Amino acid sequence: MTAVAIRPLLETDLAAADRIFRQAFGTFVGLPDPLEFAGDSNWVRSRWLADPSTALAAKLDGELVGSNFVTCWGSVGSFGPLSVRPDLWDRGIARVLLEATTPIFDRAGVTHAGLFTFADSLKHLVLYQRFGFWPRFQTVVFAGPPGESAHELLCWSAVAHDDRSALLAAAQRLTGAVHPGLDVTREIRNVVEHGLGDVVLTGAPDAPDGLAICHCGPGSEAGSGACFVKFGAVRPGAGGEERFGRLLDACADLTRRLGLERIVAGVNTARRAAYRAVLARGWRAQLIGIAMHRHDDPAYNHAGALVLDDWR
Ligand SMILES: CC(C)(COP(=O)(O)OP(=O)(O)OC[C@H]1O[C@@H](n2cnc3c(N)ncnc32)[C@H](O)[C@@H]1OP(=O)(O)O)[C@@H](O)C(=O)NCCC(=O)NCCS
Repeated sequence: MTAVAIRPLLETDLAAADRIFRQAFGTFVGLPDPLEFAGDSNWVRSRWLADPSTALAAKLDGELVGSNFVTCWGSVGSFGPLSVRPDLWDRGIARVLLEATTPIFDRAGVTHAGLFTFADSLKHLVLYQRFGFWPRFQTVVFAGPPGESAHELLCWSAVAHDDRSALLAAAQRLTGAVHPGLDVTREIRNVVEHGLGDVVLTGAPDAPDGLAICHCGPGSEAGSGACFVKFGAVRPGAGGEERFGRLLDACADLTRRLGLERIVAGVNTARRAAYRAVLARGWRAQLIGIAMHRHDDPAYNHAGALVLDDWR
């Protein structure tokens, strides 16, 4: 086989990358029509929009055969979806993509990197272990009903433009208190600037003590009918569990206000208090995977972290 070349993924590659993503995942999970994987949600475009400079294309004889998307949230990094065209599996293409992935974390100053994968696939575990990622706790992606009552809800879309940069700084302080250097402001900008959803804020409007970045509806990472909490966190410390409960309720309220059918949110089971809070609401698991951590470092997957995300 000719050597696979790794290049930046260009806007002109997006349609082919999306097709390979659906083909690869749909084939792996055994869908009769693999292209139906992920319905009308759009992960490839959303990840590329968030940071085109960290989206990787694998090309064989000039043709796209796979891709990977690297996400850097300040000191915390993750990657995915990683996909390779199914007729080319087991020929080392993912390995070449991963060889180009880990240096991106190092260049970006990421001190903790992880990923979400299929817990029951030795192929996946072995592939990632080779790059220093080790399986730790399971991550459960839950789905729950919309909220029942109308609380007062503050969302980013209602914040005056002049106030937004101060709010971004406040968001950075909040996530930095959750884990040193954790910074999801790029993700906030992506959702707001590209109309993918909204950001729920709880606590004082100018100094929120909770935030949740939500993808909503078709064309986002949520898909029709869903409000997907891509990242949510509250200020740690005394009263954290109450704050976390308020954040969950606010996200369910947004789901209701937008006329969506369900809220979707992932939580790592090592985050015991957060996991218990979601279970207590009766939300149902729709997907269970495993978090793999580079250098086996727990980062913010620990008992006290009141965080929602799944690193998919
Ligand atoms: C997962 C995926 C990206 C891997 O791509 P790939 O190009 O086939 O992977 P590679 O060939 O680089 O590496 C796979 C390795 O696993 C090994 N492997 C395959 N089946 C295995 C098994 N059952 N047990 C252990 N190792 C296995 C291969 O031999 C290879 O190792 P080698 O390089 O030492 O030979 C691809 O299968 C895919 O697109 N799957 C669907 C989407 C997906 O699952 N994405 C990742 C989600 S986290």
